[in-house]
Amino acid sequence: MFQELDKLEKDFYQELENTKTALELSDIKTKYLGRKGLVADFLKQIPSIAADKRRDFGSRLNNIKKSIADIIDEKEKKFSKISEHFFDISLPGSNYKVGTRHPITITIERINDIFIGLGFKIIESPEIENEYYNFQALNIPLEHPSRDVFDTFYLEDPLKKDPKYKRLLRSQTSTAQIRAMEKQKPPLQILAPGKVYRPDATDASHSFMFHQVEGFMVDKGINFSHLKGVLSKFLVEMFGNKIKTRFRPHYFPFTEPSAEVDISCIICKGAGCSVCGQKGWLEILGSGMINPKVLKEVGYDSGKWQGFAFGMGVERIAMLRYGINDIRLFFDNDVRMLNQFK
Ligand code: DAH
Repeated sequence: MFQELDKLEKDFYQELENTKTALELSDIKTKYLGRKGLVADFLKQIPSIAADKRRDFGSRLNNIKKSIADIIDEKEKKFSKISEHFFDISLPGSNYKVGTRHPITITIERINDIFIGLGFKIIESPEIENEYYNFQALNIPLEHPSRDVFDTFYLEDPLKKDPKYKRLLRSQTSTAQIRAMEKQKPPLQILAPGKVYRPDATDASHSFMFHQVEGFMVDKGINFSHLKGVLSKFLVEMFGNKIKTRFRPHYFPFTEPSAEVDISCIICKGAGCSVCGQKGWLEILGSGMINPKVLKEVGYDSGKWQGFAFGMGVERIAMLRYGINDIRLFFDNDVRMLNQFK
């Protein structure tokens, strides 16, 4: 009887050595430890063993059972680790989703390209600003009514970096004019695209964050015809040579004189429709001759240097270009919308 136990153990080790898969291991487990397995057969025989041997036999059988169980357990763990790291090179590869450029990015790049062609240089200017750059330096003093139009989000300044001026998120990219002119001497031809922030309630045409492109040029003898020439060229490049342009007198504190620039409605060709509010014209940008007060503020001699400036909203241009009727579509991050742009 004891010899049979030895054989059981020997057979088990031999079979185990030949196991190569988790499936084979599971078969061996059933064969030896299963309810109707070999160990169970031996257990059944215990009552028929001579009384003086029964105890030894029982304990020997128990030891074998335990070591078989332990070894199978260990091997099962090994197999599960292998399958965790197992990499089947014959499987088809996983697909990485390739993104597309955002329609706002595409529009900014198009605007940049046109102005680069006209000799402008692209710069970046900070989104976190202070009151000085967003207001005072642009000739919008503390109590000026147009502060309402350019209202923004104010920030805490725990490090007290700007003791004199409150910190804020810029509400217009015109701040870039001051930043650039402070650092560089004229002549200048600069374009500054970027995000701006205003505490507007979100609806189909308003967002608390949107994009603007600011541009300006400073040189000797710059006058309003330079402004008209550059902006007319830009608008034709952007919207096609069928459009008409219109310069309408307006007021901006940082330009004098100032003009808003319209194009004939690209949807109804000027006849009047819901997009242009039956006017036949679409307002595209603000512009003007840089106010001498602004030039003086950055230390330029306004007798010697003149300039023009302009600012436009990128979302509005993208909406017209792509026929998008809700600004929120740009920021919802719905790939069904965004994948349509390349
Ligand atoms: N900063 C103005 C705005 O946010 C846009 C603008 C108007 C910029 C006229 C200019 C300008 O440079 O000359 O509404």
